[in-house]
Amino acid sequence: MSTDTHPPQNRPVLQVGPLKPSLAQTLQDDYAAYVLPDDPADFLSEHGDEITAVVTSGRTGVDAELMAALPNLGAVVNFGVGYDTTDVDAAAARGVLVSNTPDVLTDCVADTAVGLVIDVMRQFSAADRYVRAGRWPKDGNYPLTRQVSNKRVGIIGLGRIGGAIAKRLSAFGCVICYHNRHAVDGSQYTYVGSPVELARGVDVLIVAAAGGAGTQGLVSREVIEALGSDGYLVNIARGSVVDEAAMVDALAGGRLAGAGLDVFADEPNVPDTLLAMDNVVVLPHVASGTVETRAAMEELTLRNLDSFLKSGELVTPVPMPSRVGADR
Ligand code: 8YV
Repeated sequence: MSTDTHPPQNRPVLQVGPLKPSLAQTLQDDYAAYVLPDDPADFLSEHGDEITAVVTSGRTGVDAELMAALPNLGAVVNFGVGYDTTDVDAAAARGVLVSNTPDVLTDCVADTAVGLVIDVMRQFSAADRYVRAGRWPKDGNYPLTRQVSNKRVGIIGLGRIGGAIAKRLSAFGCVICYHNRHAVDGSQYTYVGSPVELARGVDVLIVAAAGGAGTQGLVSREVIEALGSDGYLVNIARGSVVDEAAMVDALAGGRLAGAGLDVFADEPNVPDTLLAMDNVVVLPHVASGTVETRAAMEELTLRNLDSFLKSGELVTPVPMPSRVGADR
């Protein structure tokens, strides 16, 4: 359908950044959505006041500047559970609601975390490369690796995804400890008060905390050094939560046994040093990337959009910072 035939008052939806192609198509076909151009100034001055809902993803988000150019914006509908690229303080100050896609991706992200633990400790990706390179007949058996079952696992961020990881690794006989800002009421797992202390006492540290300013660099150089030369780091959260330079230094210096990474500080760029390391598994941010989960995320994104357009309410709103004092 040609979007040009819609009068301005019927085009309240704006796509910001790339989205799953079928979702982008639905936004075009069923909502006559605008797509924010790369050079947005002219578009925003012409159409900014028509927009009441933005659909975006964790890759792109909506910053304070864009929000200010959309004076009638009421909701940011985010495809993905992580919304650290959207400025929620600015949203709260403007009375803009934000939704994400929790729960529907928990299983796949937790599966990926466990897959990375197994891959980095047992070196399956590296062993696969060994076979493909024809080294088995020439160089003999692959070197011994590390057992996963019964290890001590520390989880940073025992939320929905962290909890699903804990449940899976408990079935492997692992002892689970975690660190959050506060202990989780009723949790069967052991709370540890600081990331350094947690890292010191475990074999594997798994990062499952939300990204954003509050967790920037939470897995610091000190935490990585505390994990130590027999310790493994797995990150399925956000690259920003880990001091990536410190992690690379520790891996290069043999002060960290290995790392399994689905996320990086500057995606899609991965530090070159990591690419040559067989004790590092690098994935291109695929944790939720299955047909089933992405379809469920798409469906929930559209339910949030429909709900907002019909009733002004979201189905899965994120907690907003208090607006007290934010309305200055
Ligand atoms: C998605 C994610 O790849 O949900 C998240 O926070 O990181 C992933 O599931 C991403 O949001 C899609 O852009």
